Order: sequence, then structure tokens, then C-alpha cells
Amino acid sequence: KFSGAVSLLVILVAVLFNRRNGIQDFNKAIPDILDSLRKAEKLVEVNQNIKIAVGFGGCMDVFVNAVELLNVVDIKTPKTPKHQSILTKKEDLSEGFAYFFRHGAAAERYMSNDTLFQELVSAAEKIPNFRSAMGGNAPVMANRFAAEGADVLLAAQASQDFKKHLNSTIQIAGNETDRNDIHLIMEYKTGEKWGQYESTRANRFIVHSDKFNPTLGSLEPLMNAYVKFNPDLLVVGGLQMMDNFPFREGERNKRLNILQQLLVDATQRKTLTHFELASFVDESLVTDLMDKVLPYSDSMGMNEQELPNLLSFVKYSNITMISDCYPRVATVLDQLRSSYKILRSKYNRISRIHVHTIAFQAILTKKSSQWKNTMSATAHASLTANRHVCGTPVVDVLKSKLLFDDSFSTTVDTMKANKVPLIPDKPVSCWEEDYGDGEVVQICIAPNLVCTQVHQTAGGGDNISSAGLSFQI
Ligand SMILES: *[C@@H]1O[C@H](CO)[C@@H](O)[C@H](O)[C@H]1NC(C)=O
Ligand SMILES: *[C@@H]1O[C@H](CO)[C@@H](O)[C@H](O)[C@H]1NC(C)=O
Ligand SMILES: *[C@@H]1O[C@H](CO)[C@@H](O)[C@H](O)[C@H]1NC(C)=O
Ligand SMILES: *[C@@H]1O[C@H](CO)[C@@H](O)[C@H](O)[C@H]1NC(C)=O
Ligand SMILES: *[C@@H]1O[C@H](CO)[C@@H](O)[C@H](O)[C@H]1NC(C)=O
Repeated sequence: KFSGAVSLLVILVAVLFNRRNGIQDFNKAIPDILDSLRKAEKLVEVNQNIKIAVGFGGCMDVFVNAVELLNVVDIKTPKTPKHQSILTKKEDLSEGFAYFFRHGAAAERYMSNDTLFQELVSAAEKIPNFRSAMGGNAPVMANRFAAEGADVLLAAQASQDFKKHLNSTIQIAGNETDRNDIHLIMEYKTGEKWGQYESTRANRFIVHSDKFNPTLGSLEPLMNAYVKFNPDLLVVGGLQMMDNFPFREGERNKRLNILQQLLVDATQRKTLTHFELASFVDESLVTDLMDKVLPYSDSMGMNEQELPNLLSFVKYSNITMISDCYPRVATVLDQLRSSYKILRSKYNRISRIHVHTIAFQAILTKKSSQWKNTMSATAHASLTANRHVCGTPVVDVLKSKLLFDDSFSTTVDTMKANKVPLIPDKPVSCWEEDYGDGEVVQICIAPNLVCTQVHQTAGGGDNISSAGLSFQI
């Protein structure tokens, strides 16, 4: 309680402080910041010969307003929101959705009831402004890498319809299928109301009934194709699909062992590897990933909710379910440093971590590693965030705002903190830190020009992460 009061006081003081310094005026710096971010982005031309292999998870995303859908299928607000791991009936959806909606936290759940799932999808497709798009982590990343000019191998099964959404230059490792699995993206806006509940920020709750992707159905096709493809970078994402999936006894472990073989083989071939984190709830799955994926990951990407989760796990082997969705830069930097140091001491492999938050981008790279252009990559990730959420290739200053103060601290430890001002002509702040034993890292922070007219949020992390990565190899 006491610390809660203190942090509230800190926030109040910060708000008053900003008022006095005129945060309104500070938003006037957006055109200059945009200009400088673009200049930083233009410094790098992506190597046209790079080859990137990407797995896993391909589906069609059906987007629908969550509250509208719940109303149409007559799902009422629950008495008490509950943390549901598998959804079997309407009540589960009601309780599970409410749980995350209140906090504006993203979540993804498996629905074991096909009848109910079909009912939801049919209802969603009848709502006037529903949209559908290619989804899953790997295809979104693959498209982004292709758009950046890379040669891409994608591990996915794909229908004719699905392929229409993929850049035609992408090679596919996987069989053709009649129809891709559907993932229902139940979106909501900041301050949206569902009965007595109100969301604290725009986000989405994802429901699916997919049996192919959670078992990494494209793993073998990828293993068969990637040696010949000979990628510079192997990207692994979509593993959260395994979370809370009702596997047969021992099946999950079997699949993860094969994934581990792939990663071991890739690292022996000197292929760089990137693991894109997501929201995990099942601690036993995270334990397995710590054993079978993290030791072979050169790079990791994650959002502000996944970072404290990662840290909690590497530190205490437990998961923090709900975290601050608007963390301060100083808080993220502290978590980033701690995570990096622990991962380094455990596995001695990680050399890059990218944290994408709603308000800013943070990229840490080990100085002596192969990752290049960290400053430009951070700028590019920031611009990609705006372009993705607004759904336009050109950043519109009138649809942008800053959720960033005129300066940030490098740590919450006031004795050690440095204050870094946000300079509109040089908005990406980079510096080095020496952790001893030859461990020198570079850290770059770039503010986001937060899009105020949200077109889409799903796939944002994948798009942003790949944008950053493609500048660094
Ligand atoms: C599955 O959903 C349908 C439709 O809502 C419902 O009638 C049925 O009882 C559900 N099955 C189970 C096992 O809960
Ligand atoms: C498709 O990939 C090619 C080759 O990487 C790239 O030049 C092109 O811009 C991409 N198309 C789109 C729409 O991103
Ligand atoms: C792809 O198709 C072949 C031939 O039908 C089949 O043997 C194989 O199991 C399929 N692979 C996957 C991953 O579905
Ligand atoms: C995780 O474990 C640590 C140390 O035992 C404890 O302080 C923390 O409260 C735990 N967090 C959760 C979310 O259980
Ligand atoms: C990724 O972002 C670009 C803008 O940079 C956007 O055109 C594209 O639609 C996004 N990709 C997906 C799959 O949402």
C-alpha cells in the first residue's frame, strides 16, 4: 500500500512537472523528431543478399470488435473475471476475456469447443466492419523481411487464399492446405466499456481452435528445407501457441526436442538465431523453453509485458501475470540489463535484446557481436510501429503523439541514474555500458510517434521486431 502511494505521488509530481513544462508544446517537436528518425533510418540499406528462415504459425486472422461480438452471441459479463487457460464454454470466454480486458492486456487462448468456435467465427463474419488478414507470427515477419529486401523461407502450411497475402518472393516450407486455421482477434479500444468493465488501453484477446500450429506442424518441413536454403538468420516465433494446448502425454516435449535439434544445428552452422517471445502463462512450458530454446538464441524480441515475465522467470522461475502497460524507460532499462546479465551468465550466448513498448523502442546489443547499426535499427523499429498501427506507409504527424517525457533516467536507482534529454534533432539516444569481464553493450532508446488513429495492433510486435532485425544483419 505504502509503495503504491509513493508511486502515485511520483506520477502526480511527474504529471504536474510536465504540465508546467508544457507537454503540449513538447508534442510540437514531433515533426522534427520524425525528420530525424527518418534520417537515422536512411543511413542503412538492408543487405540485399541476406537470407532469413522464419517459423512458426500461419493462420487467417479474423478481426472483430470484442464487445460487439460478445453482444451478438449473447455472452454476458461474468460475476467474477477469472484466469482461464482453456475455453470450453461461453462462461469461460466471458470470465477469461473480462480478466484481461480490465487490464488492457493482450492474451491468446485455445478453445477446445469447435462448435462454439465456429459459432463465434460465423457471428464475427456477419458483423459489418469485420476484417480478415493473414496472421500468425511467422508469416507477418516473413512479409516484413521480404519488404525489407531479404530472401525469405517461411515454415507454414498455406492455402491458396493464404498465399495471396504472402509476398510472392517468399519460399514456403510446408504442404498446401485447403483452408488455413482461423484465429479470432477480439479487439477493443482504450476506455471501451463492457457492462461494468472498462479497458485501460486498446488491445486484443485472441481465441483459436487450431490443432496444427500448436504442435509446430511445420517443424519437419523447415528442417528439410533450411540446410539447402542456408540462412544467415533463423527466426523462431509463435511458440506461445503451445501454451495451454491440450497435448497428448509427452507430445509437447517431443516437439520441443526436435526444435532444439534444429536450433543446435543452426548455431553449429553459425546461423544467427532470434527468438520472438510472446505471452506465456504455463510455467512448465516456459521451463522447457529455458532449456531448449533460450540457450541457442542469439537475439530475443519482446514487448513491455513479456520483459518482466522473462526476468521473473530467469530470476525466480515464476511468471508475473499482469504488468504495467506504460512502463517508464528507467524501469524497462533495469529489467533489460538484469535479464541480459542473467541470460549471459546462464548460457553465454545472447547478444541482442529488443524491447518494443507502446511509447518507445529499446535495443541492447553486445559490442563485440555481429549485430550492426543498432541506432538506425532502433529508429526504424520506432517508425515501423507508427506505420503498422496507423496502417499507412507514411507517418502523419497529425495522427501522432508522444508518450515520452522530455527526458528519461537510465535507471530507477536515483543514486546511479543519469538523466537523458530527448533532443528532437537526435531522438535516438545511444550509450555504452561496461559490465566487466569484457561485457560491453550498446543500448539505444527511441521514442515512438504513437499512432492516435488505430488501424491495427495485432502483428505489431512481429512487424516491429523484424524491422529492427533486418537492419542489424
Ligand atoms: C460447446 O459449445 C456449445 C455452443 O455454445 C454448447 O452448446 C456446448 O455445451 C459446449 N460444449 C461443452 C463441452 O461445454
Ligand atoms: C516483396 O519482396 C520483394 C523482394 O524482397 C520486395 O522487393 C518487395 O518490395 C516486396 N513487396 C512488398 C509488397 O512488400
Ligand atoms: C505433407 O504431405 C505429405 C504427402 O501428403 C505427407 O506425407 C506429410 O505428412 C505432410 N506433412 C505435413 C507436415 O503435414
Ligand atoms: C516469484 O518468486 C519471488 C521469489 O520467490 C517472489 O518474491 C515473487 O513474489 C514471485 N512472483 C510471483 C508472481 O509469484
Ligand atoms: C507491417 O507494417 C507495414 C508498414 O511498415 C504495413 O504496411 C504492413 O501491413 C504490416 N504488416 C502486417 C502483416 O500487418
